[in-house]
Amino acid sequence: MKKFYKNKKVLITGHEGFLGAWLAKKLIDIDCKVVGIDIVRSRKGNILSTNDRNKIKGYLCDLSKGQKLNDIIKRENPEIIFHLGAQAIVGEALADPIKTLKSNVEGTWNILESTRQNKAVKALIIASSDKAYGDSKELPYIENVTPLNGTYPYDASKSCTDIVANMYAKTYGLNVCIMRCGNIYGPGDYHMSRIVPDAIVCALTGKVFKIRSDGKFVRDYIYVEDVVMAYLKAAKLLHLKKIQGEAFNISNEKPLSVKKITELIFKTCKADISKIEILNNAKCEIRAQYLNSKKARKMLKWKPSCNISQGLGKTAEWYRASLFNRKLSKKEKGKR
Ligand SMILES: NC(=O)c1ccc[n+]([C@@H]2O[C@H](COP(=O)([O-])OP(=O)(O)OC[C@H]3O[C@@H](n4cnc5c(N)ncnc54)[C@H](O)[C@@H]3O)[C@@H](O)[C@H]2O)c1
Repeated sequence: MKKFYKNKKVLITGHEGFLGAWLAKKLIDIDCKVVGIDIVRSRKGNILSTNDRNKIKGYLCDLSKGQKLNDIIKRENPEIIFHLGAQAIVGEALADPIKTLKSNVEGTWNILESTRQNKAVKALIIASSDKAYGDSKELPYIENVTPLNGTYPYDASKSCTDIVANMYAKTYGLNVCIMRCGNIYGPGDYHMSRIVPDAIVCALTGKVFKIRSDGKFVRDYIYVEDVVMAYLKAAKLLHLKKIQGEAFNISNEKPLSVKKITELIFKTCKADISKIEILNNAKCEIRAQYLNSKKARKMLKWKPSCNISQGLGKTAEWYRASLFNRKLSKKEKGKR
């Protein structure tokens, strides 16, 4: 892996995000030249240090601004692009569908079109999601079997992301592949509307954790470093032209109910599970979704290295250290 990536110029969109920061850090560690594009600079709460940021050439750019984005790609000529930048929060998408569609769909077609026009780019990896499949009676979701059928705003934006990427792969022969993960968790997720960081912070601070649903909704949970490894493996194979136009589900294939994962988190943090409250007022959310990832295991030769207890242990430790070293801002605490 290190030999392949050494000295390669890699662009990450959304490098200030949760997953983007992890990917950037890993790429810096393996001696890549990292360029980043985001709408924020130096976000608090992700895992990037000042030292890491000094090694990233960061641009402030909204992905929906096609000309500016194209100018950056022309100037930088990256060999590999990881397109992660997106409005990634389900509730925010519900509140502002247009902003979400602009970032997620227009942002994606802008990246695809810039890649088509720039011959220096040899591989483009696009972050889609399990949400791109939408509601399905047949579970787990399987690539090339389960249709892309997102109904709600975030889900539909990811179905579109996926379909437009496939259009560029099949029509223009663009060397692009698509990654679909379930819920990613780990240190440095600053989105307190997400279940894992929210439940951990509640458990560590003795607050009541409120489950939006009836607790029976089922999801995949995958540790962030396992996702980073899947992305790195995919980009390498894509660069070698072995997986052009393919989509991959990334999962540890051990789905959990919301109630179960919350209890696991409270136990990991040695907190009182009677402080878990079920609100049962979730709206526009799918009851059960989880992925089959046999294709990624076979073609990418990838498998997760971290089980849920190990992952939650590392994550809780990180939040414990960061919580008791600094106070969370009001915005980080957010509202579920
Ligand atoms: N975290 C998960 O559970 C999960 C699961 C499946 C798929 N994904 C996808 O993976 C990607 C990364 O997710 P994440 O959890 O790191 O999300 P995140 O919100 O932490 O990171 C996304 C980054 O994109 C940036 N961004 C948003 N809109 C932008 C725009 N218009 N122009 C430029 N930058 C913009 C944000 O500022 C942020 O830094 C997203 O595409 C997301 O949809 C995430």
